[in-house]
Amino acid sequence: MEQQYNQASYITLNDGNKIPNIGFGTWTIKDEQEGYKIVLDAIESGYRLIDTASIYGSEGSVGKAVNQCGLKRSDLFITTKVGKDDLGTNLCFQSLQASLRKLNLQYIDLLLIHWPNAKAPDYEKKLKETWEAFCHFKEAGLVKSIGVSNFLPHHLKIIDNGIIPAVNQIEFHVGYTQDEVVDYCQQKDILVQAWSPLGQRRLNENKTLIDMAKKYNTSIASICLAFVLSHNIVPIPKTQNKQRMIENLHCFDIKLSADDLSILNNMPQTAFSGLHPDTF
Ligand SMILES: NC(=O)c1ccc[n+]([C@@H]2O[C@H](COP(=O)([O-])OP(=O)(O)OC[C@H]3O[C@@H](n4cnc5c(N)ncnc54)[C@H](OP(=O)(O)O)[C@@H]3O)[C@@H](O)[C@H]2O)c1
Repeated sequence: MEQQYNQASYITLNDGNKIPNIGFGTWTIKDEQEGYKIVLDAIESGYRLIDTASIYGSEGSVGKAVNQCGLKRSDLFITTKVGKDDLGTNLCFQSLQASLRKLNLQYIDLLLIHWPNAKAPDYEKKLKETWEAFCHFKEAGLVKSIGVSNFLPHHLKIIDNGIIPAVNQIEFHVGYTQDEVVDYCQQKDILVQAWSPLGQRRLNENKTLIDMAKKYNTSIASICLAFVLSHNIVPIPKTQNKQRMIENLHCFDIKLSADDLSILNNMPQTAFSGLHPDTF
């Protein structure tokens, strides 16, 4: 397969496995045939990490593209997630089995608990059970790495059984940086991934970003992604458009100055999705 642009390299996780330093998001990509072409385009563009979830409806497309793209399975890194209504020993296993079936894969590279579901009355018990089960899935070779998503420090403490999550995938973008979670994870060598690294288009009208994109002669998306990378965080942008897939990989060419990083780091809260891990 011809690779159009790829400066993606790999980061070593706390369990020794390697993960690409940028990923491709597939939330809202539902139609299997269209989704298959989109994911193939992403792989052709140079993405090696594809992010899906049991609730996205994109696992079929992702699996088809992974199995038919012509690359070795070991050249691709597939993340999927167990949804918040599937926590607990039995349900999380059923969810993993369903994901493996839809993806038509023998193993998942990274399995995440999608949300802590902190409003459920017995959520602490379910989180502990789920994390224990994840540790067994890893031992059994069904998944290579295990992690969480949308976990605040107090959620991470609940699942502490001596096996540290490899990844915490959280909302992170210009205007919403969750500093406390990021600091906590980075101190514990938990890799942070940024979902909605572009703020789901809600940053496109931001005057500061418009001016900065002009200054660096690049797109707002590239500024947003370069900002994420500057925090040693792995972005997983989503786009259905091949030009934008390639454009987004150019974030590696942008080196933001210390002054501009300071402006972006100090931007007042903006483009927050409204989804909070303690209430969603
Ligand atoms: N763990 C979680 O709870 C969680 C939650 C949300 C998302 N995620 C994951 O994170 C991924 C990314 O987040 P997201 O999809 O919410 O948002 P995002 O990547 O921040 O933004 C996606 C939006 O930006 C547009 N876009 C992409 N590149 C662009 C560019 N260069 N110029 C202009 N517009 C551009 C896309 O439109 P087009 O497609 O038309 O280009 C799409 O509307 C998801 O797909 C999913 O895999 C995880």
